Order: sequence, then C-alpha cells, then structure tokens
Amino acid sequence: MNEFPNIVVLTGAGISAESGLETFRGSDGTWNKYKVEDVATPEAFARSPRLVNDFYNKRRRDALKASPNKAHFALAALQKHFTESFVLVTQNVDDLHERAGSTNVLHMHGRLNQVLCLSCHKKSEWLTDVTETSVCPHCHAKASLRPDIVWFGEIPYYMEKIENALSRADIFAAIGTSGLVYPAAGFVNLARLSGAECLEINLAANPHSYTLFDEVISGPATKTVPEFAQKLIEKYQH
Ligand code: OAD
Repeated sequence: MNEFPNIVVLTGAGISAESGLETFRGSDGTWNKYKVEDVATPEAFARSPRLVNDFYNKRRRDALKASPNKAHFALAALQKHFTESFVLVTQNVDDLHERAGSTNVLHMHGRLNQVLCLSCHKKSEWLTDVTETSVCPHCHAKASLRPDIVWFGEIPYYMEKIENALSRADIFAAIGTSGLVYPAAGFVNLARLSGAECLEINLAANPHSYTLFDEVISGPATKTVPEFAQKLIEKYQH
C-alpha cells in the first residue's frame, strides 16, 4: 500500500458551470450584470436589503434547481477513498458538493442555504426566499436575517483550518477558479511553501497559471476532474 498523500482541493464557480450555474467573470458572468458594490458588500445590505436579498434569492432558487455534475461526484469519490487526508475547500455558495456526497466541505464564502441572524448571531437552514420581514427561527426577531454569505470586505470562514491543511498538503488542486479573489487566490503560494505539488484544472489556463502551478490541466471540469480523481485513486490503492 502506498502511504496516502494529504490532498487539498479548492473549487470555484467553474466546477458548477456545467450544472447550469453562472460563473462570476465569464462573458455572461454575474459581475457583468451586477456591480459588486451594489449586491455583495455589508454596505449594500445596509443601504438596500431588498436588492441584496433579491440577488441571493435568485441564486438560491437557481442552486436548488441545479444538480451536481460528474466533477462534483468525482471529488466525493476522492474523499471516500482518501478519507481524512482529503480536504475540500470551496468558494462556492451552492450545495452541489454535498448533494454529490461530499462531507465537511469548507464553504469559505458561506452558503446560500443558510441565513445568519444579526440579532442572535445564530445560523439557520433556509431554502426559500429571504425578505426584509423574515423572522429568525431562533430568537423570532423580525428584519434581522441576512444571507450567510461572506461579502467583500468580510473575513472568509475556516481560514485557520484551511491554512493548517495547506501547511500539510502534498497535493493542492485549484479547480474552476479564476484565482483573482484573495485569500483563496493565495492558497497556491501557501501550498508551494509546504512543498506540495500544485495543479490547476480549468476550462482554459489562467494567465498566471504557468508560473504558479506545476501542472495545468485544461478542459471542462466534467471531463478533467473525473480523470484527475481516477488517476489519484489508481496510484494510491488501499
Ligand atoms: P470566476 O467566475 O472568477 O472564475 C470561474 C473560473 O472557472 C474561470 O477561470 C473559468 O475559466 C473556469 N470555468 C468556467 N467553466 C468551466 C468548466 N466547465 N470547467 C472548468 N472550469 C471552468 O469564479 P471564482 O474563481 O469562483 O466571491 O470566483 C471567486 C469569487 O469571486 C467567488 O467566490 C465570488 C466572486 O466574487 C464572493 O462573492 C465573495
């Protein structure tokens, strides 16, 4: 038996693109239709909760209608094989990884299917639209719920856990992310410092890919991710 390597995978919007969810920076991407400062900052929510809620309500409905694709399932299979030596970090706020069978996913930018109460600070599962009059299931406060999304200007979740995993990583793979938003964009540097082999898997290589990654795999995630997973599983048999 080969000893299992510590694997850290970071996913971005590109892994859910073939499930029909839009990316942020593609030609038809979210940030070509909306301004970040109008819908994805704490200031925007304070100014216009309805606009921000509507933006995330649509995304929540889209995510609920979507189904996980072969790339999500391949990462769930990797976790099943490598168990504790596999860590999945996602910038995505959909739950397609979980619906494919992944567990303990580190949703560093939050989750669409949860709300956060600004009054009692508790989180609740939430699958329907959030409105300005929605009531917190815990403390029953009115007008106190916000989407559990990490907005620009806020600190991403699980940073300590992620940095710990990166400091022990033997293999780091960034899948379907443009690598433009920090701190996630810097994970490859942390992984390199730990001596990890770094791979990028993307529809097309990002401009910075060849200087940052040891290997760049191009193509749609539903093809490239199952191939990547299969190769690793075959290399490291129980
Ligand atoms: P982006 O929209 O910036 O990048 C998506 C990446 O996926 C691009 O590099 C595409 O080339 C790639 N891609 C598209 N389709 C693909 C496919 N079928 N297979 C493989 N790759 C594909 O999305 P993210 O990098 O996830 O944050 O964006 C990072 C963060 O910026 C998001 O979490 C969000 C956004 O603003 C917040 O809202 C806080």
